[in-house]
Amino acid sequence: MKLLKKISLGVVVVFIAMQFFSPTKNISPGNHTAVFIKETNPTPELQRTFKTSCYDCHSNNTEYPWYNNVAPISYWLADHVNEGKEHLNFSEWENYSLTKKDHLLEEIEEEVSNGKMPLSQYTLIHADTKLSVSEVTDLVEWVRQTRIIYQLGKQPK
Ligand code: HEC
Repeated sequence: MKLLKKISLGVVVVFIAMQFFSPTKNISPGNHTAVFIKETNPTPELQRTFKTSCYDCHSNNTEYPWYNNVAPISYWLADHVNEGKEHLNFSEWENYSLTKKDHLLEEIEEEVSNGKMPLSQYTLIHADTKLSVSEVTDLVEWVRQTRIIYQLGKQPK
């Protein structure tokens, strides 16, 4: 019993100590996805979909929930954001090659059609970020049209 008390006290102390540390936030003021929007021309509805369901992990600006102020949740979220951005960052679209853009669009279609994105841990907490059937259909159509543009751009003149 005594040992158990000591352990619980230890856990509480560590938890409190953790609150003094937090990872750097992923925040970028302004219109950070302007190039992506201009180039790929998604419908206004699709732009909203990206904003609500993807930008939190795939752009330079995350809209943080209140519980991000609690460690270790903050570290867990930062991990998702860093990993998501590494794979795909809509705020860095101008820095991708035509081949990369074409490939990323292919991946976006695949991940969304298979229901792998947005991540299920995320849609579980934010139910409104789950894509509807019609949103997926619109996204697939947009991917097909946009890929043609990038593929034509790749062909020699
Ligand atoms: C909660 C964070 C989160 C959200 C929200 C999210 N993603 Fe992801 N995404 C990740 C992480 C982490 C990875 C990398 C690991 C993996 O594939 O599971 C990833 C990987 C991807 C990849 C794979 C890229 C590659 O190179 O293979 C694509 C494409 C993608 N996401 C698209 C999307 C789209 C489109 C949305 C919105 C409909 C979205 N994601 C929403 C976290 C997220």
